[in-house]
Amino acid sequence: MNKEDYLKPLVDERGRELLPCRIVPSPMEGVMTDLFCRTMIELKLTDCWISPFIRISNAVPGIKSLKGKIRRFTESGLPLTVQIMGNDPSFMAGTAKELASLGVKGININLACPSKTVLKNNSGGALLKKIPLMKEIITAVKDGAGGLPVSVKIRSGFSSISETPLILDALLEVAPAYVIFHFRTVAEEYEDVPDGLKRTYRAVKFFGEIPLIASGDIFSVADASSTIAATGCAGLAAGRGLLKNPFLIREILESLDSEKIFQEKSHEEKAALFFMKTLDLARENPSRYWNRSSIIESARNLWGVEHPFFKKLLSMTDKEILASLKDLF
Ligand SMILES: Cc1cc2nc3c(=O)[nH]c(=O)nc-3n(C[C@H](O)[C@H](O)[C@H](O)COP(=O)(O)O)c2cc1C
Repeated sequence: MNKEDYLKPLVDERGRELLPCRIVPSPMEGVMTDLFCRTMIELKLTDCWISPFIRISNAVPGIKSLKGKIRRFTESGLPLTVQIMGNDPSFMAGTAKELASLGVKGININLACPSKTVLKNNSGGALLKKIPLMKEIITAVKDGAGGLPVSVKIRSGFSSISETPLILDALLEVAPAYVIFHFRTVAEEYEDVPDGLKRTYRAVKFFGEIPLIASGDIFSVADASSTIAATGCAGLAAGRGLLKNPFLIREILESLDSEKIFQEKSHEEKAALFFMKTLDLARENPSRYWNRSSIIESARNLWGVEHPFFKKLLSMTDKEILASLKDLF
């Protein structure tokens, strides 16, 4: 693929749009808060969303509950793919059907989550070692989604990468629209692994026609370039890197295009711009957006715990944080 192709939507061989953009925010439960998403939207830092998982346990959630769970994404007007996670094919299919009626652009099935509670429930990453159930779920969700693209998020195995071929073979049989591939195994959680790009490259080759969106350790434009160059993936999903530098997707897109705006700004400037917007939103609508701990968490991600501004912020009262926007920096 040429560099410029990464600026185009992801489509299948019939020209059906699978994803409106190829450089996407990776789903992140807990940190994609209402306020984080709103700040991203106000600063136009993404062109689409893939939501964190909605857990499907004992029933198909009611339409009102689903609407509430996706509101922070849908009200941006940006195309949304919703991720669902569970182990019951009929509840998962029913949820996909309800979500389709809400106008979402795609469904993604979580087959990757390494949380102990999730694994105990035979959901998320646990399904990578329950291949028949995994296939049943994907087939059922495709039926329920009524023509919407159904994709999956996987890791390279449950306990070992020797499982990768078996998992990929099974996926080829049920043909998801695309695959978001995090190169670590479930057991590796977030450990450093030396051969992440090699694992991704092998998966890209294995999948052939099925597009692979690469996930894992994309913290900079250089990481994005090397992942694209080394693997030939169809797109990138940026996770933790986006928390540290919320401008990352824009910068990656700019590196693939000719105009440069954000790459020429320093990290301090970008962090301040993002944080000021976050505080503006919290000040304008405190009942919805003010949450001290998530604002402090955002500052920690942007600057790190040793930064003088982060230390200063910790010692400030809520009132001081909200009132003295201009004196903060
Ligand atoms: C706080 C947090 C929450 C996450 N929640 C989800 C989730 O809801 N669904 C999912 O598929 N992956 C989730 N992930 C995994 C990320 O989407 C991504 O695949 C992983 O962090 C590797 O990419 P990175 O190195 O760019 O962070 C989460 C990761 C983090 C750090």
